[in-house]
Amino acid sequence: MIFAAGKIGTLSLPNRLVRSATAERMADADGRPTPQLLSLYQGLASGGVGLIITGHMYVHPSGKASPEMTGIHSDELIPALAELTAAVHCKGGHIVAQLNHGGMQCSPEAVTGTLAPSAIAAPFLRQPAREITVSEINDLIQAFSQAARRAREAGFDGVQIHGAHGYLISQFLSPFSNHRSDEWGGELQARTRFLRAVCQAIREQVGPRYPVLIKLGVRDGIAGGLTAEEGLSVVAELESMGLDAVEVSGGIGGVRNLNVRPNIRAGVDEAYFRPLAHQARKVTRLPILLVGGLRSRRMMEDVLASGDADFVSLSRPLLCEPDLPKRMLLDLQEQSSCISANRCWVDRQGEGIACKCRIGVAHRKARRKGSVSS
Ligand SMILES: Cc1cc2nc3c(=O)[nH]c(=O)nc-3n(C[C@H](O)[C@H](O)[C@H](O)COP(=O)(O)O)c2cc1C
Repeated sequence: MIFAAGKIGTLSLPNRLVRSATAERMADADGRPTPQLLSLYQGLASGGVGLIITGHMYVHPSGKASPEMTGIHSDELIPALAELTAAVHCKGGHIVAQLNHGGMQCSPEAVTGTLAPSAIAAPFLRQPAREITVSEINDLIQAFSQAARRAREAGFDGVQIHGAHGYLISQFLSPFSNHRSDEWGGELQARTRFLRAVCQAIREQVGPRYPVLIKLGVRDGIAGGLTAEEGLSVVAELESMGLDAVEVSGGIGGVRNLNVRPNIRAGVDEAYFRPLAHQARKVTRLPILLVGGLRSRRMMEDVLASGDADFVSLSRPLLCEPDLPKRMLLDLQEQSSCISANRCWVDRQGEGIACKCRIGVAHRKARRKGSVSS
């Protein structure tokens, strides 16, 4: 089933493998993509993944999470972004832009003084955030919709709203970070208002046929955070918000253990958000993308065959081996060589993400072929 064609709204895809958004940190100070980023996307497209979702892109300067985050906040970036999409399309690939505002999780190197639904300081935040004003809320709703328009103009095949991992949209959804007493906070319906407004504003800009996806944090996994029950109620509403697909995720970025779990072993602790996807399937007719610890072809097939998800998304495995989809198609490889050591994060500002276990991977592959002794 992995290599069966699939559809997300009006977007036809050649297979069910998705590159989940992965912040590459390969843009210049203005948010302009570097040649390094272009070549990373070309490598993914040549490697056979059906859909590439970009690393998160900031829709407004106040939402820049890291100094090298890609921008989509200004019309000036459209030509450079168009070069990216053209590079992917000429390799036969498809690419969707992930739209984000970092809110309270923006690093001090990128933004001085962060915004959140309510003023907040927490051990995993690098700087305290102040409460966003209603006028700023309205500006940011427009910023998301203008970013979606730019994505369409730059040739992206769709957009994905980042509604997970403790960034601004998930901060609004979560009672951990949203203590507002006005119409933007309180009960779940009010905490969902910001997401609803963003979806509506995006649809007004891009029209009814342009693919709009969401990555949703269905549960925060921290004390006082969004529960799975609440997250699933949001999932149930997504179709009426005009969205075309949901990627099921969870956790808070600064607390990486739930979202980007370490040491995943194929066949043992794979697909850690599958139970949430299974529940989500009961409350939505939208296509579901499942991310989180998918490592073996057997597990991917099982997830798809069970109907728990329609697409499987991979982040770290495609950083490790961008050609994994092609190798699986050709029966050259049954599982990812990624050992989820979580060494792909940027250690030094300006270096961009990379799989630092690659040398180990090459060694293991050679050993399997018998050319290297252990
Ligand atoms: C280096 C790195 C950067 C990431 N950046 C993003 C991002 O920009 N947006 C996002 O939604 N998720 C991001 N994630 C999370 C992944 O998309 C994915 O949800 C998570 O890594 C689990 O999938 P995996 O086991 O296939 O890696 C990132 C993960 C890593 C390791």
